[in-house]
Amino acid sequence: MKKVLVATVKPFAPAAVEGIKKVIESAGYTFALLEKYAGQEELIKAVEDVDALIIRSDKADKDVIAAAKNLKIIVRAGAGYDNIDLEAASAKGIVAMNTPGQNSNAVAELALGMMVFLARGKFNGKPGTELRGKTLGIHAYGHVGRYVAEIAKGFGMKVFAFDPFIDDEVIAKDNVTPVDTVEKLYESCQYVSLHIPANQHTIKSIGVDLLARMPKNAVLVNTARKEVIDEEGLLKIMAERDDFKYISDIAPDCAGEFAEKYPDRHFFTPKKMGAQTAEANINAGIAAANQIVNFFEKGDTTFKVN
Ligand code: 3PG
Repeated sequence: MKKVLVATVKPFAPAAVEGIKKVIESAGYTFALLEKYAGQEELIKAVEDVDALIIRSDKADKDVIAAAKNLKIIVRAGAGYDNIDLEAASAKGIVAMNTPGQNSNAVAELALGMMVFLARGKFNGKPGTELRGKTLGIHAYGHVGRYVAEIAKGFGMKVFAFDPFIDDEVIAKDNVTPVDTVEKLYESCQYVSLHIPANQHTIKSIGVDLLARMPKNAVLVNTARKEVIDEEGLLKIMAERDDFKYISDIAPDCAGEFAEKYPDRHFFTPKKMGAQTAEANINAGIAAANQIVNFFEKGDTTFKVN
């Protein structure tokens, strides 16, 4: 009997776990759960006899992959798969998938929520600012970027997007203004919201060159990955421009410096929580379980990323 392990340091909502279990057991497979585990050793031990693995931001590194003797498929219940060692997986013929779009609305709502929170001085009672009429640049127009655009338009923001992989017509159809260079996006927008993945092309790619182009009262919004920021460059901008603010879903490595020098010009979530809603957990978790069943039963490799 096939065994499917759900391994999540940051647990799914109970309803999502129930839903995943139901899909797995209805297919005649064994369901196993490892939550809030203390370290990689525990994960390495738990994967030894599993055929399939569902994870979130948990690290499926080369040691985990080497230890999993029967593993055929890893599904990252979410968008970013920078936590899977794809080379190690491919070398063992293990299929890696993500569940694109399933948790995107949750991330987008958090992006706008943090924008309002900071614009209102973190609800300190003093006069803040509004989002209506302000410019918002969406850096990468994927699933999350599209939801951000939709919600931001509801707020009355003027929305722009840069994405070299998406046709301008697709962006324009959503009443979003396509921008043909990344530099222009940063030059045109008071707010820039990041939706790029973390990979060899994007890590540390957001630095002084782009940030210095942003207009007065700039706000950088990061619900993507902290690794895409060149933190040295960001700190330089923060030091040079007292009108620049940074919001991030998960604190950067230099969070201490922000706390000490720029308390009013930043907000960082204490834990990555963009996708931490019951709805997102249910959507992504159950999609992951269905993808595993379809892979074993029908050889379906939709959403394979390696
Ligand atoms: C994603 O890539 O889908 C998000 O960053 C969510 O990550 P999480 O499942 O660890 O919350």
